[in-house]
Amino acid sequence: MLALKFTPLSLILVLLSSTANVFSRPSSRGLKPNSISLSHKTKQPRTAAESNMLAKFRRLAVMHKYGGPMTPMSASLMIYSQNDDEGYFAPVKLGTPGKSYDVILDTGSADLWVAGQACTSAACAQLTKFNPKESDSFRDLKLPFQVSYADSNVAGDLGADTLAVGRFTIQNQTFGVASNFPNAMNDPNFATVEKPASGILGLAWKAFATSNTTPFWEYLVESKQWDMPVMSLHLARSSGNSKQNTEPGGTFTLGAYDTTLYTGDIHFNNLTVTENPKKWTLPLAHILAQGKPVSTGSETTIPAVIDSGTTYVYGPSSTIESIYNTISGSKPDPETDGYWLYPCDTRVAIEISFADGVKWPINATDFMADKDDSSTYCRGAFAAMPTGAEDPWIFGAAFMKNVYTVLRFSPPSVGFATLSEKALAGSG
Ligand SMILES: *[C@@H]1O[C@H](CO)[C@@H](O)[C@H](O)[C@H]1NC(C)=O
Ligand SMILES: *[C@@H]1O[C@H](CO)[C@@H](O)[C@H](O)[C@H]1NC(C)=O
Ligand SMILES: *[C@@H]1O[C@H](CO)[C@@H](O)[C@H](O)[C@H]1NC(C)=O
Repeated sequence: MLALKFTPLSLILVLLSSTANVFSRPSSRGLKPNSISLSHKTKQPRTAAESNMLAKFRRLAVMHKYGGPMTPMSASLMIYSQNDDEGYFAPVKLGTPGKSYDVILDTGSADLWVAGQACTSAACAQLTKFNPKESDSFRDLKLPFQVSYADSNVAGDLGADTLAVGRFTIQNQTFGVASNFPNAMNDPNFATVEKPASGILGLAWKAFATSNTTPFWEYLVESKQWDMPVMSLHLARSSGNSKQNTEPGGTFTLGAYDTTLYTGDIHFNNLTVTENPKKWTLPLAHILAQGKPVSTGSETTIPAVIDSGTTYVYGPSSTIESIYNTISGSKPDPETDGYWLYPCDTRVAIEISFADGVKWPINATDFMADKDDSSTYCRGAFAAMPTGAEDPWIFGAAFMKNVYTVLRFSPPSVGFATLSEKALAGSG
């Protein structure tokens, strides 16, 4: 597929390591009992070349995630490079005694994977790795998993062990223990993966789990451990000026809403597929760009995946072009396929609505994906991507930072609400 043709970009590193110290602060933020603090990496200063490479890579990773070849027991793992500032991660515990690993919360996949002790490649060197021998409760399921990348594979075994997420514990959660990572590029800017994540926690549905395992959240719903069958997410916007490597990234609440993080009602839309859903896919109805309606190419609605593991927003090239046509001075980015440039002094106003018609504005700051100081052009966070018809739109963090998101098991739906002042203050 398309992804295979790309030259390897620097990246490959998925999983970074961490100590728990980033997370010792949350109690002072008045967290609800069912909530976990998220963190994310601080926006890093980058050269234009690095920004271009990262933008290319992000699109490649999304294309691979949604359109790449899938083999049995394989998953398209989201990949985070050192300069990623928009991966949202939280600590979970695995094993007995429980050891903490930071994992990326990814509503666009449904498996749990962590780097394993057996991984000795350079890409794994700095990661906090899972060592089956350190856990009294680990069971090796003797089943392989393989994750294909643009140019190589990540492989490992499936195991089962005790998983704790916040105050909830699952005794026998199947997850992937990755033992083989491709070597990273030789580019020192990208080859070294820093803390903090060690893996991915997929928050999509069992029907999408390549490990064929019930995701922890569905298990908690089905075993009636939650008052409400919901997961709620506030993804904070990076302050952009922290000296630290990571900063608070919002809040993940299990089995409840955090009523301090939104105002007004939560507006739910049913998923496009409600029988055996795979992803959190909503019927996208309208896009307004600079106050003008943009045709989505559909008379009714068009599927859009809500994906916290994707940084930007990707959609069909004709609609993306129509959006930029409302922004004077915009043009396709000659350096990064699928992306567009626009004059940085334009404040771009985009509003999105799903089937119920409620409009959700996207902050102009989130539309501005990259600003190169030496240039008057900025790269927009909406980019074109050829995907399969099943997933024409992917709404990543650039959208999700603007809403309080509630993922509801029954009826299968996603709700959005307006962020509260408190949530916005946490957005930096
Ligand atoms: C744990 O889960 C695995 C995989 O689903 C299963 O084979 C095994 O029997 C389970 N063990 C226990 C003790 O529940
Ligand atoms: C959403 O689905 C539920 C259950 O299937 C149904 O009762 C409800 O009417 C649906 N809502 C809309 C707006 O279609
Ligand atoms: C948009 O984001 C910027 C940067 O975080 C913030 O200062 C501004 O208040 C936001 N605007 C709205 C309308 O939320």
